[in-house]
Amino acid sequence: MILEKTITIQPPPITDPKTNKIVTPPPIVLNELIFTFIDSPKSKTVNLSIQKIPYSILLFSGDQYDMMGDYTQAQLDNIVKQKLGNDPQSVIQALYPRTLEQDPDGPGTILAGMFSKIGIKSSPTCSCKRHALEMNKNGAEWCENNISVIMGWLKEESKKRKIPFVEPIARMVVQRAINKSKKLKNNMTYNLDIDTINKIYNTEKKYFKSITNRLTKNIDGRICHHKLVLLNLITKYYDINSYLEIGVHNGASMSYVVHQNKQLICYGIDLFEQTNEHYIKDNITKNKTYQNIVKNNISNSHITLISGNSHSETTIKNLTNILDNKSIDLLLIDGDHSFSGVKMDFDTYTNFVSNSGLVILDDYSDRWPGVKNFAKIIDSSKFKIIGTFLNNELILQKL
Ligand SMILES: C[S@@+](CC[C@H](N)C(=O)[O-])C[C@H]1O[C@@H](n2cnc3c(N)ncnc32)[C@H](O)[C@@H]1O
Repeated sequence: MILEKTITIQPPPITDPKTNKIVTPPPIVLNELIFTFIDSPKSKTVNLSIQKIPYSILLFSGDQYDMMGDYTQAQLDNIVKQKLGNDPQSVIQALYPRTLEQDPDGPGTILAGMFSKIGIKSSPTCSCKRHALEMNKNGAEWCENNISVIMGWLKEESKKRKIPFVEPIARMVVQRAINKSKKLKNNMTYNLDIDTINKIYNTEKKYFKSITNRLTKNIDGRICHHKLVLLNLITKYYDINSYLEIGVHNGASMSYVVHQNKQLICYGIDLFEQTNEHYIKDNITKNKTYQNIVKNNISNSHITLISGNSHSETTIKNLTNILDNKSIDLLLIDGDHSFSGVKMDFDTYTNFVSNSGLVILDDYSDRWPGVKNFAKIIDSSKFKIIGTFLNNELILQKL
C-alpha cells in the first residue's frame, strides 16, 4: 500500500547492553506499507505483519475466523483499511508495547535495576522482564496489595536461575522498590490552583531547567520561548491523558508534553509549510517538526500532526474524524494571536475539551493585545480562571 504521506514511527528506548545506557533507536520512515498476512489455522487467527515493525496486528480470530471461511484478498484489504483507520501512524506506533526504559520510576523497573546491580540481569524475552512490566502497568499500589504474587514470581525465577530464595529478604527488596517508586512518582494529588503550580515550579526549577536544556538540543530551528515548561509540569502532576495544540511551530511546546514518563495522545494543528508572514523565516515543515518532537518523545506518546488553517472547516472536520468522539484533557492555544483568531480557536477547540479539562492561552501579555483582550470576554460561567504562569500563560478550567 503506497502512502499518500510518509509516516514516521519511533521505536521505544532500550538499554544498550554494551554501555548500559538508555538509547532511543532512530525513527523508521515509511513511504509504503508492505503487508504479510499470517493465517494460523491452529490458533484460528489471521495477523497482519508490516515491514520493519516487530509486532503484528490481529485482523480476526475465533468465531470470526470460522465465519470468514475462504476469505478473499478484497475482504482482507477491507479489514486492514478499517484497522488502520484515518491515522495509521498512531495504530502502527501503538504496536510497540511499553518498555521498562520508558517507565524509569515504575516499581518493576526499580526492582529490575536493584537486581541488575547485584548481577541478576533480565534478558529482553525472560519472564522476569514480563513481570517487571506488569508491575509497572499495575502501579505501586497494586504491587503492595499483591506482594504475595510478586513473591511467587521471584521464587520461581530463583529456582530457574538456581539462586537461593530467602523470602524475608526478597520481600524487603520488593517493598523498597515499591516505596521508591511511590516517592518518585509523587503519588499525591495536587490542588489545581496557581499557588500550587508555582510552588511545584519553584521547588523543581532545577529539574525543569535540565529538561529545557535536553529539549533544546533536539529542536532543529527557532524556539519561541521556554515558558511552556508549564506543559511539562501540568502533564506530569495532573491527570492529563490527551493533548491538543493549536500552533505547533517547530515542536518545542509539544516536546515539553512528551518529554516525561506518561504516555499521552497528542494532536497538533499548524499551517506548517503554509505559515503566515510572521513565521515564514522559520522555515517550518511538518516533517521537521515531527522529527523534533519524536526526538524528545521519551514517553512514546502518540503524535498526530494536522496541516491546515485552524479556522478552516476542512481542518476542523479532519480533527473531528481523527478524534472519533474522544475528548481532550489539555488544550494549548498558540496559533493566530489576533483577537478574532484566538476567539475562533477558543470557540472551536474548547468544544473538544472534556469537562474539568484545561485550556492554556499562550502569550497572555501586553505584547499580544489580541490574546489579552480576548481573555476579558471569556464566559466565567463556563471557564474558571486558574491563574497566570510566568506572566505569559493564562490557565483556565472548563466547568
Ligand atoms: C508562536 S508559534 C507557536 C509556538 C509553539 N507553540 C511553541 O511554543 O513551540 C505560532 C504558530 O502558529 C501557527 N499558526 C498561525 N496561525 C495559524 C492558523 N490560523 N492555523 C494554524 N496554525 C497557525 C504558525 O504557523 C506558527 O507555527
